[in-house]
Amino acid sequence: MSAILEIKNVTRRFSGLVAVNDVSFDLQPKEILGIIGPNGAGKTTLISLISGTLPPSSGDILFEGKSIANMPAYQRARLGIGRTFQIMRPFPGLSVLDNVAVGALFGRGGGNAELARARELARAQLDFVGLGKNVDQRADELGGPGRKRLELAKALAMQPKVLLCDEVMAGLNLVEIDEVIDVIRKVRNEGISVLVIEHVIKAIKSLSDRLLVLHHGEKIADGDPETVLANQAVVEAYLGKRRA
Ligand SMILES: Nc1ncnc2c1ncn2[C@@H]1O[C@H](COP(=O)(O)OP(=O)(O)O)[C@@H](O)[C@H]1O
Ligand SMILES: [Mg+2]
Repeated sequence: MSAILEIKNVTRRFSGLVAVNDVSFDLQPKEILGIIGPNGAGKTTLISLISGTLPPSSGDILFEGKSIANMPAYQRARLGIGRTFQIMRPFPGLSVLDNVAVGALFGRGGGNAELARARELARAQLDFVGLGKNVDQRADELGGPGRKRLELAKALAMQPKVLLCDEVMAGLNLVEIDEVIDVIRKVRNEGISVLVIEHVIKAIKSLSDRLLVLHHGEKIADGDPETVLANQAVVEAYLGKRRA
């Protein structure tokens, strides 16, 4: 099987700071890849580099074998790269349904989508993430957990081949976390590759096929979750610090 996404020696600098430093990894079809790392490790920056909201300073990113590193975000979305945002940005005055319909209009097959069809797709995705009853509410009336689901539905309405999730479980209780884990598993079972950034170690351990650890912008471990979480460098960089 060939990788759907290849990150090759990608570096991103912000003036003096190296936020992502020479990072390489692949994402395989139907794989759930978890990414963990302390605050400021470069996780969100990495997602922005893949989705195209930021260009890399150097290195290359291939999607289905072709370089996308210089492609604008909207084109990457049309190819099939969907993301959620850690800082949620719903259109507050729009209904939950129309927030997700916007995702449908900008996603794969976007450009020629009609509003009625986009709303149909949005409704299906809202059912899928468990917000089927909230379609007519205004987006800003949703609480924290609802907004996380809304972010997921928006990204899924883009009909991505690769879904990039940035802390979609943050602030959720254990029951809600389990529900989101179920949603992500269902997403994978539909054939979508998923990259999940998460702080909840227990959740990411059970969800991920593979786990990658970022620390100061560098990849310090990449492998099966059990082995990676037992790795001494990972324990020192991340787990030790969090327990302290
Ligand atoms: N737009 C930006 N301009 C300047 N510095 C940034 C920008 N975005 C992120 N950074 C810095 O890059 C580093 C990595 O940030 P980020 O990718 O958000 O980390 P994480 O998501 O792992 O917490 C941090 O030091 C952060 O302050
Ligand atoms: Mg982040």
